[in-house]
Amino acid sequence: MKKLSYITSTNAISFFCSGMIGCLLLFILISLSHGTASAQEPISGPSAIEGQALWSENCTPCHGQTGVGDGSTAASIAGPLPDFTDPAFIQEVVPTDYLETIKEGRIENMMPPWKGRFSDEQIWNLIAYVLLLSTSQADLEAGQATYAQNCASCHGENGTGEETNLPDFQDWQSLSQQSLSVIQTAYSQSLAHDDVATMSDDETWQTLVYLRTLAFAQPRIDGILTGQLINRTTDQPMPDMVVKLHLLQNKARLETLTAQTDADGNYTFSDLPTSPLIEYMVEAVYEDIFYLSQEPASFAPAENLLTLDVEVYDTTTTDPGINITQLHYLISLSPIEIRIDQIMVVGNSGQETYIGQDGKTFQFTLPAEAEGITFQNDTTGSRFVPTDDGYTDTEPIAPGTEGASIVVTYFIPHDGDSSSLTMPISADVDHVSALMQDQGATLTSDRLEFANKRQIQDQLYSLFTGENLEGGTDFALTISDLDNLTFTPPGGDPSAPAAVASILSNGPLEQTTWLAIIMALGGLSALLAVIFYPTIYPQPENDETKQKRLLLMLVRLDEMAEAGELDETVYHRARAKYKAELIQVIQ
Ligand code: HEC
Ligand code: HEC
Repeated sequence: MKKLSYITSTNAISFFCSGMIGCLLLFILISLSHGTASAQEPISGPSAIEGQALWSENCTPCHGQTGVGDGSTAASIAGPLPDFTDPAFIQEVVPTDYLETIKEGRIENMMPPWKGRFSDEQIWNLIAYVLLLSTSQADLEAGQATYAQNCASCHGENGTGEETNLPDFQDWQSLSQQSLSVIQTAYSQSLAHDDVATMSDDETWQTLVYLRTLAFAQPRIDGILTGQLINRTTDQPMPDMVVKLHLLQNKARLETLTAQTDADGNYTFSDLPTSPLIEYMVEAVYEDIFYLSQEPASFAPAENLLTLDVEVYDTTTTDPGINITQLHYLISLSPIEIRIDQIMVVGNSGQETYIGQDGKTFQFTLPAEAEGITFQNDTTGSRFVPTDDGYTDTEPIAPGTEGASIVVTYFIPHDGDSSSLTMPISADVDHVSALMQDQGATLTSDRLEFANKRQIQDQLYSLFTGENLEGGTDFALTISDLDNLTFTPPGGDPSAPAAVASILSNGPLEQTTWLAIIMALGGLSALLAVIFYPTIYPQPENDETKQKRLLLMLVRLDEMAEAGELDETVYHRARAKYKAELIQVIQ
């Protein structure tokens, strides 16, 4: 570890205070540093733990996971990236400076601005995390031990001081304006420390890094989650049952805990992290059927109590009244095909979970022209069984308007300026909607009316809605003006081959897109489950359908290119991407 350098703050002032504006700025900074609150200043301690989650998602492509500067895109950046793992570098960082750097970015050097994306609080959390990238857990523990031994007698275990007139090390407003080397200077120059045992440079460094973390929000793990397992068919609590608690972060499962219900069907999980980034879901199995607590929930800020009940039901093989409460079509267009994400929310008006006859619960048919059919929420790979004229769901349908949900993606090729789709309706539908990206095409249907336009992610969509479709009929819609589509580059990146991206997206929707769509549709919990089920039970990929679809697309691309219907660059890029995907699937 490097020796700490001793720059006094007076030196720094005379160095920087050259010229009127510089001095004025410095004056403002100094006056700010003497306590006046400003929007620049953090209100309370930042959370390195929450910063870490943001870091992994947003900063690693360039800075690398460790912060050394070796992210996947780092090679394409001309200038040098900072090495956040270098203690000598970090010791000179004034945290408040980083607020500005991260907010405004240095776009000329490829550091993006983040102010539109993150709140000040989130940026402070990122800074807290960055400040620790040069410190190992062992360093921190050693620092904590030295602090307890040499400093706590005066400054207190938690840094707030045993007497008055001692600095408050939990005050992030003050600490965030000093680099570690400035703190080091103040420490070594204070006469109060004359009798403090001498420490090696390493020990001093570790102690000061630890000292600064006293101002950070300390992760709380005193959360208590309680709930009751209730049989809603009989309205009785369920004693002596096993329930599982899933901890999710970024929609991925972190951990699963198990508990037993007591005589009143109650369960308790304690010592849980209360971070708002962690979401909880409770699961119970009754008569071989999985039930989840409805919405994933988090602890409210500063709270450590959370209640999540789980409802289960008796089962029946007699149709209790199954219909489609919501039918949604998400329509995306490309020059050669229409992608449809069809969402069916199936309701059960009875009081028991419908398990069907021979396990067949809900039958449905997809358009005859559909290709590359992929079910997005098939956790076992065998949930949907083909029948003579379509598919049947084998999953039980719980009581309520959102008893089960089916999300299926398919593609309808088109080769002209308009395409008419016939959607067979297998059961009565309460509400139907179509959400189509605004790309210059027109949607018409005698069962739908234009409702409004809405922004989902970067795209503008038109929403069409309708009511009361009769089971056994066909629902038709026509999409015209397909010969003149325009594309907004995905993610606003003008260099991205938009048309290609649009042609090629055959995977499941991004989770963030999903969330946005669900919100646009009114926050359906059955659809939220679509996101969460696969993360709880990883989904096997169906290579066979994917392979078939990719082959078909390659043939179609070639045909179109031959007929001169496709832009040359789009063609080459699309072909290369399909081929790469195909090779991957085959391997
Ligand atoms: C597209 C690549 C890229 C991404 C993504 C990126 N950075 Fe940077 N960052 C850079 C580059 C390049 C620099 C160096 C710029 C310079 O020296 O002017 C930099 C510099 C910085 C600095 C200033 C370091 C110093 O002391 O000079 C901070 C702090 C920083 N980044 C934080 C972040 C955080 C936090 C994130 C995620 C929210 C992030 N960066 C995402 C490329 C990136
Ligand atoms: C004998 C009591 C005592 C012990 C032990 C002690 N300090 Fe202090 N410390 C003080 C007092 C009193 C002040 C405030 C007066 C001053 O700044 O001179 C202070 C101030 C500080 C400051 C702030 C200096 C400034 O001016 O901002 C730092 C940093 C600090 N101590 C770090 C430490 C560290 C690290 C240790 C352990 C290695 C430690 N102190 C041990 C009494 C103590």
